[in-house]
Amino acid sequence: MWPALLPQPRTLQLPLHRGEIRWDATVAVAQAAQFAVWETQSANVLGASEIQALSALQFPRRRQSYLLGRVAAKAALLHGFKAADPREVEIRRGVFEQPVVYHPFRTPISLSLTHTDRTAAAVVTAEEHPMGIDLEEVEIARVEIIRTTLTAQERNHFPGTSAETLAEITAAWTAKEALSKVLKCGMMTPMEILELATFRPLGPAVWEGTFSHFGQYRSYSWQVGDQVLSLVLPKNSTLAAPADVTPWIQLLSPLAETAGA
Ligand SMILES: CC(C)(COP(=O)(O)OP(=O)(O)OC[C@H]1O[C@@H](n2cnc3c(N)ncnc32)[C@H](O)[C@@H]1OP(=O)(O)O)[C@@H](O)C(=O)NCCC(=O)NCCS
Repeated sequence: MWPALLPQPRTLQLPLHRGEIRWDATVAVAQAAQFAVWETQSANVLGASEIQALSALQFPRRRQSYLLGRVAAKAALLHGFKAADPREVEIRRGVFEQPVVYHPFRTPISLSLTHTDRTAAAVVTAEEHPMGIDLEEVEIARVEIIRTTLTAQERNHFPGTSAETLAEITAAWTAKEALSKVLKCGMMTPMEILELATFRPLGPAVWEGTFSHFGQYRSYSWQVGDQVLSLVLPKNSTLAAPADVTPWIQLLSPLAETAGA
């Protein structure tokens, strides 16, 4: 439960089925439009080590991404694991800069985080069922850089330059970044290792990917406006209605565009 006195970040619960077992994931989003609010509320959201980490950050852009990322992560954690106080969970940094959750719950928790200048997003699951997340904005300049990182096989897959291809290439990149977070290696590893084996549209603005060297994972990517969000999850877990982009539109739309926001 998110405290009633704090603004409520948007959350999306994703039931994932794996045979008879159900694993829930929660995705949450914090928007830069509310950064000023979160900055004034930071003492009510952050734990002691996080307040210290925030105060050590000098650049406004990084202060924003740090704080919004923690807000999104805590919203997902409190929604998924039923705590009442966001200060009870702290997100610290591992030696590979991966997020590590310190918390009072009994369950080991997997957290993955991402941020752009507009939005921070987090996905939380039980550690037994790791997932990764990545969010990017679709920009021609970024796509040109992404193209230079594609393997020969991937280049054959994305030959065009249409607007759809720009979104698709960005989606493919986010799928690989999300995988790199599950693996904890980040993008410091040779790009061939993260190669996509397949990347196919499931419907308008939705793609599904598999990986050449990590057959145990699959990706889903959703485009909302000029943003693309990818999740990587264990391949044999089934996500209900992955081709439906509506929940992702509700999650990622600018705050003024949805009722009650
Ligand atoms: C992980 C990485 C791909 C993120 O890409 P990005 O597009 O710049 O940033 P995003 O906003 O999508 O994600 C940032 C978040 O990824 C997470 N992250 C960083 N490194 C990570 C790793 N090795 N594994 C998993 N997650 C990681 C962090 O939570 C970070 O947010 P935070 O710093 O606010 O906690 C990129 O930062 C990278 O390649 N890092 C390598 C880090 C590394 O290997 N360091 C070794 C130092 S010994």
